[in-house]
Amino acid sequence: MQAKALPGFRDFYPEDFALRSHIFETWRRVAGRYGFEEYDGPPLESLDLYTAKSGDEIVGQLYNFVDKGDRAVALRPEMTPSLARMVAARANGLKKPIRWFSIPQLFRYERQQRGRLREHFQLNCDLIGEAGPAADAEIIALAIDTLRGLGLTEENFKVRIGDRAILDWFFLVDGFTNEQRGAALQVIDKLERTPPEASLSRLSAAGLSVQQTALVFELVEVRSRKSLEALSAKAGSYPDGRAKAPAAEFLRTLDALDSMGLGGFVEVDFGIVRGLAYYTGIVFELFDAGKTLRAICGGGRYDNLVGAIGGVDLPCVGFGMGDVVLGELLKDRGLIPPHRPSIDVFLAAIGDDDQPILLRLAHDLRNAGIRVEYSLGSGAVGKQLKLADARNARLAVVIGPDDRAKGEVQVKDLVAKTQVAVPLSDLVLNVKSIVGLKD
Ligand code: HAM
Repeated sequence: MQAKALPGFRDFYPEDFALRSHIFETWRRVAGRYGFEEYDGPPLESLDLYTAKSGDEIVGQLYNFVDKGDRAVALRPEMTPSLARMVAARANGLKKPIRWFSIPQLFRYERQQRGRLREHFQLNCDLIGEAGPAADAEIIALAIDTLRGLGLTEENFKVRIGDRAILDWFFLVDGFTNEQRGAALQVIDKLERTPPEASLSRLSAAGLSVQQTALVFELVEVRSRKSLEALSAKAGSYPDGRAKAPAAEFLRTLDALDSMGLGGFVEVDFGIVRGLAYYTGIVFELFDAGKTLRAICGGGRYDNLVGAIGGVDLPCVGFGMGDVVLGELLKDRGLIPPHRPSIDVFLAAIGDDDQPILLRLAHDLRNAGIRVEYSLGSGAVGKQLKLADARNARLAVVIGPDDRAKGEVQVKDLVAKTQVAVPLSDLVLNVKSIVGLKD
């Protein structure tokens, strides 16, 4: 039997890890620019944290089991419920708005396909304690800038934005029951991947009238400010008499993104409702421009989750951006930095008597912050220097009996192809100046 990773789980060889680090470093850098602080929670949580609020789709994909203490537990499939729990526990002591990010590894038992695995890393950025369009725009801008930070442009990706509160408003005006509302949202969420007859029969099974069904299809066709404004003008006011334009806040978010110069990334799309149960307002997904891949990122406003999980009312907006689809897109666009591991100095010893000096120099250089390697077995200098080449070393330092007698070593610059004798006492300073390390 050949041992292999489980289906849907990845081995990260150094070149894979280099890509992962590149993505994580960019995530951290851009989140930092927006004043976000990093947090984490436990990878294993109580099962009911998810069964209560995440929605059927995620619950069906849980890795759950009963632990040795008879507790029903699950590997985290998403971060948002843990975040809600953590924030609620310290709600009074935290300065609002809370700007937190995290990069958890998440586990979902999904059918494995391009862009979908059974584990992934996900950048989560959430803004907590602030309702309204300014916070919505801030979070969407952060999602866009994160991808820009990786070299992706307006030509490469778009953010498609819808709004569950606006859909709900239309459903309310048209007399949908709660169940019908839920069925309509589920149908809209799956519309692009479902044959039209199946969507229609799902809606009629939920008891929607012809007029209500027509409204659902009219709503998913909202793809611009204009069509949203036209539809809301037609719809009238709340049945309870509140005269509030449901689209006003949504349009303010779009205006804010325009003011930031990010309007070119934005597409209105009321077909976006998101599969998770807890969203209450704006919802958005980022896709590659050709839409050949699955969503890179998804998020939205969820104003009731902290209350439902922790009993404290706090409005929230946030997103999750996965590393899998993103990695595919970066590969497709040639945006993966070359993986060329390198060291600064390779030390080679001519004879066994040179070893003690080699070890001392290696340690002095490492103490000075220089990346150093030397051959661990004994062998001809030529063979040792081959390893120096394979490691892309900038310098090779050769220690031999004649130089040692003079208190010197030979320093070969493997890029400039030069060689000089350097006194032992000057070696660290000499190497630092060549490799560009400052004191
Ligand atoms: P989500 O849409 O389930 O949202 O996941 C967000 C992103 O994570 C997806 O767009 C996708 O890139 C990635 N992703 C999800 N599942 C997989 C998978 N099986 N394999 C690879 N990548 C995957 C959430 O999880 C929300 N909790 C996000 C959020 C945070 N909303 C508010 N705050």
